[in-house]
Amino acid sequence: MTAKTKIILGIESSCDDTSAAILDGDQIRANIIAGQAVHEQFGGVVPELASRAHQENIIPVVSAALKEAQVTLQDIDAIAFTQGPGLMGSLTVGTSFAKALALSLKIPIVGVHHMKAHILAHLINDASDNKPTFPFLCLTVSGGHTQIVRVNNPLDMEILGSTIDDAAGEAFDKAAKMLGLPYPGGPLIDQLAPLGNPNAFQFARPQIPELNYSFSGLKTSILYTLQAAEKNDPTFRQTHLHDLCASIQNSIVTILLHKLEKAVLQTGIHCVAIAGGVSANSELRKRLLEKQLVGWRVSIPKMSYCTDNAAMIAMAGSFYLAQGRTLDQNASADPRLPW
Ligand code: KG4
Ligand code: ZN
Repeated sequence: MTAKTKIILGIESSCDDTSAAILDGDQIRANIIAGQAVHEQFGGVVPELASRAHQENIIPVVSAALKEAQVTLQDIDAIAFTQGPGLMGSLTVGTSFAKALALSLKIPIVGVHHMKAHILAHLINDASDNKPTFPFLCLTVSGGHTQIVRVNNPLDMEILGSTIDDAAGEAFDKAAKMLGLPYPGGPLIDQLAPLGNPNAFQFARPQIPELNYSFSGLKTSILYTLQAAEKNDPTFRQTHLHDLCASIQNSIVTILLHKLEKAVLQTGIHCVAIAGGVSANSELRKRLLEKQLVGWRVSIPKMSYCTDNAAMIAMAGSFYLAQGRTLDQNASADPRLPW
């Protein structure tokens, strides 16, 4: 008789998405995500509004996940939750919920690092047709982080480089805001870029040593380009929207790939994955896949595992649980949870 696989409830509430997932072994049986439209009008996530919305969403989202997976609370073996990094108020909603539910069910809790979970999403059974093999390099690109990580095994990951200022997602969102697009602007730039010329505008390229990134110079360069052009044509942002989106996207993706290429050369590791919200970007996905022509083995997770989701939290939690890395009721959220 084969041993029963563990059923893990995953909870994600680090920023502005409330999500609950049910993992059975390495198979996701439900992954429910509730977004928060309330932030759009403010051009960014408002922490106080985010935690209130998590409070409203968490029980309906967990109930929907249980229903879709056709399991009851009594079937759950452990609860994995995002302990950090993220917004304190948002993280606290998920952490408190996980602790209270686990206490009532008398089951263990596992605290998960959000960025490591983005990487471990690759190990979910249906994450991609081309799973990475260890060791692999992962470009983790989200609204708060941009890193190149060497992944030796699910519990051993080493950061080889990271951004010294803005994250790639932040660069997309801030550029979009300058163009008058609503938050989050990254997906909108992605949608509008194919209608424009990616070489219409050239922006400053960062000169940062080693495998680190910087996006603050790009932001300033975009602003100066807009200001200079608007002296002659006040409608410039509207009339050149598509070319601007295409050129901004081209710049960000080129910057990301340049250091990734350097990391492949330095480490000799040709198995390369991407993770985090920006890995949903179609230009990044396309240009990375082209690297297969020069011998890279590329892993790109399916869209629902790219942006914030609880499936990745449950998956990461299953590795921690197998190692006995559970937390007690004194556990608290940590907005700056160390790597
Ligand atoms: O990982 P994620 O969902 O949340 C954080 O942990 O930050 O990443 C969100 C970021 C946002 O900055 C958003 O604009 C960006 O990912 N993003 C994209 C795309 N989809 C999401 N950026 C560019 N192109 C996309 N298709
Ligand atoms: Zn994320």
